[in-house]
Amino acid sequence: MSAQPDSYAVMGHPIAHSKSPRIHSLFAAQTGQNLEYRAILVEPGGFAAAARAFRQAGGRGLNVTVPFKQDAWVFADILSARAERAGAVNTLIFEAGGVRGDNTDGPGLVRDLTVNHQYPLAKRRILLLGAGGAARGVLQPLLLERPAQLVIANRTANKARDLVLRFSDLGPVSGCGLAELAGRQFDLIINATAAGLQDAVPPLPEGVLAAGGWCYDLMYGSEPTAFVRWGQAHGAARSVDGLGMLVEQAAESFRLWRGVWPETEPVIAALRNG
Ligand code: ATR
Repeated sequence: MSAQPDSYAVMGHPIAHSKSPRIHSLFAAQTGQNLEYRAILVEPGGFAAAARAFRQAGGRGLNVTVPFKQDAWVFADILSARAERAGAVNTLIFEAGGVRGDNTDGPGLVRDLTVNHQYPLAKRRILLLGAGGAARGVLQPLLLERPAQLVIANRTANKARDLVLRFSDLGPVSGCGLAELAGRQFDLIINATAAGLQDAVPPLPEGVLAAGGWCYDLMYGSEPTAFVRWGQAHGAARSVDGLGMLVEQAAESFRLWRGVWPETEPVIAALRNG
């Protein structure tokens, strides 16, 4: 008789459309790991109780998505340096000695850009749009790639400036409002705002994307997102969505749990094909 599979899950609200169960099933099949992975809907305010119950029932680890990444940060006993900084946790590892928390979103973004898209970040001028949880989650890994500069621009300028204070020891990062971008140019613009939920793009001045520049949207969809379309309309050399990042952050979680790296390319291709 085969052994019981190890149990993992993703918790969020909403969660029905999460692609994580499919991604982790594909990883498990590919690497021969005996695990099951499901999506669990958790009501707001109920994260800690749900995570505790999952662990008590023998669960080995969790992915955590909107709106519980901060709750997971509080829930973890031990945090990785990048999760500590991000103030958000998307991966929990249940160990005998306690609950380890990590954040694989930033490494997922960096890996998608630098490995899958072959776009090195060193010496680039990077513009990060947004100053919420999504932006905070990717800042440290981006700065560790040594860009020439990283400007955080947000609709509410003070939130961008506050974020800069938390990361300025890691590299050349500055913050401003969207209007202050006039006259400036960037090689890579990353959209970490929630504007796409309304199929909108933050207002950006003409010429902000340098010739040959790239656009990257942390969001993804079956159709090109509003920001991907913005990039295409403004002459981006490439304008890509965050599906690759989604698969890469999952791969990094999988590695933390199982100690093996799955191949991401076939999984990205499978998801692209619907
Ligand atoms: P998340 O965790 O997804 O980052 P969040 O913490 O609510 O969510 O942050 C949303 C981000 O998107 C913020 O930077 C927000 O700007 P404000 O700080 O000014 O609210 C930004 N945002 C949301 N809708 C936007 C829009 N229509 N145009 C520009 N920025 C928008």
